[in-house]
Amino acid sequence: MNRDAAVLDNPVAESLLGRHAHLARRIGRAATYESGVSTFCALPTEPAPADWADLARLLGSGGFADMFSNTAAPPPGWEPVFVLEGRQMIWPDGHRPGDPQPDAGAAVVELGPDDVPQMLDLVARAEPGPFGKRTRELGTYLGVRVDGRLVAMAGERLRPPGWTEISAVCTDPEARGRGHAARLLRALVSRVLARGERPFLHVAEANTGAIALYERLGFDTRKPVTFQGFRTP
Ligand SMILES: CC(C)(COP(=O)(O)OP(=O)(O)OC[C@H]1O[C@@H](n2cnc3c(N)ncnc32)[C@H](O)[C@@H]1OP(=O)(O)O)[C@@H](O)C(=O)NCCC(=O)NCCS
Repeated sequence: MNRDAAVLDNPVAESLLGRHAHLARRIGRAATYESGVSTFCALPTEPAPADWADLARLLGSGGFADMFSNTAAPPPGWEPVFVLEGRQMIWPDGHRPGDPQPDAGAAVVELGPDDVPQMLDLVARAEPGPFGKRTRELGTYLGVRVDGRLVAMAGERLRPPGWTEISAVCTDPEARGRGHAARLLRALVSRVLARGERPFLHVAEANTGAIALYERLGFDTRKPVTFQGFRTP
């Protein structure tokens, strides 16, 4: 199993060309996900003008180029939409997650296609970052239900070789501070490690609460990342 962290420098491209190829749309070396799965786009680390032209064709005029962790500067005419500073965190090699906490009557369950409306509702309340109607197809998503209501979830997103990104970590504002996120994270970390892979994740620099939680569970910061988006000409 390839556990080389270099694949984490362009994780969207590594996923779209690899384990997410069945969810990819491509022109030349430009790639993005099918509609509703993710808006992330991939180009080679040092894109040539022809690569930007291919991405523009792929997204269409006025399309949204979500350049996740790719800091290449687009050609003139691509209008900046957002810039967000964040960090990439990785699970240390050989580290084991702590013992699972007692579930306090709220079991961790795997979420299926029928759960998508509730997942979208939770995302609207908790705002963990981008999550679309088909994002669940990227990997396994786990949730916590209390009285039948989904109050927390987390799941697997990017899949560069040897690694799985943990994403959409969120807890309903009314259910925070009860260990739901920590329990879901430990469950996902265990699943990823059991496959012989290592977990990683991305978090906005301003999200100090989430960073503290990830550090407490054992994640280390690998590098700063800049998330940026553009409108195609
Ligand atoms: C971050 C988030 C998922 C935590 O969910 P949660 O279910 O409340 O987390 P837990 O109860 O498992 O918290 C685990 C620990 O982290 C700590 N923690 C959680 N949020 C914290 C915050 N905002 N600031 C400081 N510490 C925090 C808790 O105190 C707890 O520590 P303890 O066990 O020693 O008491 C939740 O605040 C959330 O949904 N935020 C909005 C979405 C988001 O930003 N997601 C992360 C995207 S990268």
